Amino acid sequence: MRVYVVEDYDRLSKKAAQIVASQIRLNPSSVLGLATGSTPLGMYKELIKMHKEEELDFSEIKTFNLDEYYMLNKDNPQSYHSYMYENLFKHVNINRKKIYIPNGMNENIEEECLRYEREIEKAGGIDLQILGIGRNGHIGFNEPDLKFEALTHLVQLDDDTINANSRFFQDLDDVPTKAISMGIKTIMHSRKILLLANGKEKAVAIKNTLTGEIKPEVPASILQLHPDIVVIVDKETAQSLNIDRNCNKLV
Ligand code: F6R
Repeated sequence: MRVYVVEDYDRLSKKAAQIVASQIRLNPSSVLGLATGSTPLGMYKELIKMHKEEELDFSEIKTFNLDEYYMLNKDNPQSYHSYMYENLFKHVNINRKKIYIPNGMNENIEEECLRYEREIEKAGGIDLQILGIGRNGHIGFNEPDLKFEALTHLVQLDDDTINANSRFFQDLDDVPTKAISMGIKTIMHSRKILLLANGKEKAVAIKNTLTGEIKPEVPASILQLHPDIVVIVDKETAQSLNIDRNCNKLV
């Protein structure tokens, strides 16, 4: 595990975008796993800039999003489908047929989850998975106490997650309480992982994730076992981590 501590959110976004861009340049038909939420917004802006100014080419890229709200129409401005189009897809030359986001409106959820897993498999697996982290240590929407084994499944969101997500909705009652999410097992199958976190409200989650016991109560702690993970945090998030700045390793 490599941990980069950067000055601020701006540097975090630039560094994350450079890593994603390197992946795309090394393998132009990479399969990317994408996250939504506030954390990757700056990285998506940087990637759009690289597309416009440096001809970063998305035409052969395939993408799989981590999650989508259950029973929220994809055209709803709060859906993760809308988020992805607004914040990345409509600004780059991605082939729309190569974009995969769970369909939260499929009434047969089991079928939808299986279909999603099958599509990931058909694509040859995820080359680089981007992750944010919840204050409670969730990745994707794998909340504390879920078993580590899960593949893509329907999740009941924690109150803390619903409260955190409510900042994007007019009313707390409008916030979906369920989502379809890749499972921990799906995430762990990715060949490379890039975990991003900024701000002091993520400090405890990151400390528990990187240095705590590996347990389902801190879903992200399983990432300690992933063979190829890069973590980028800002100074506020890193406040209680001991990092050897020479090799960017935890000490
Ligand atoms: C988003 C996702 C979530 C978020 C997490 C952090 O697709 O799967 O795990 O990454 O809730 O959200 P932000 O970045 O808004 O703090």
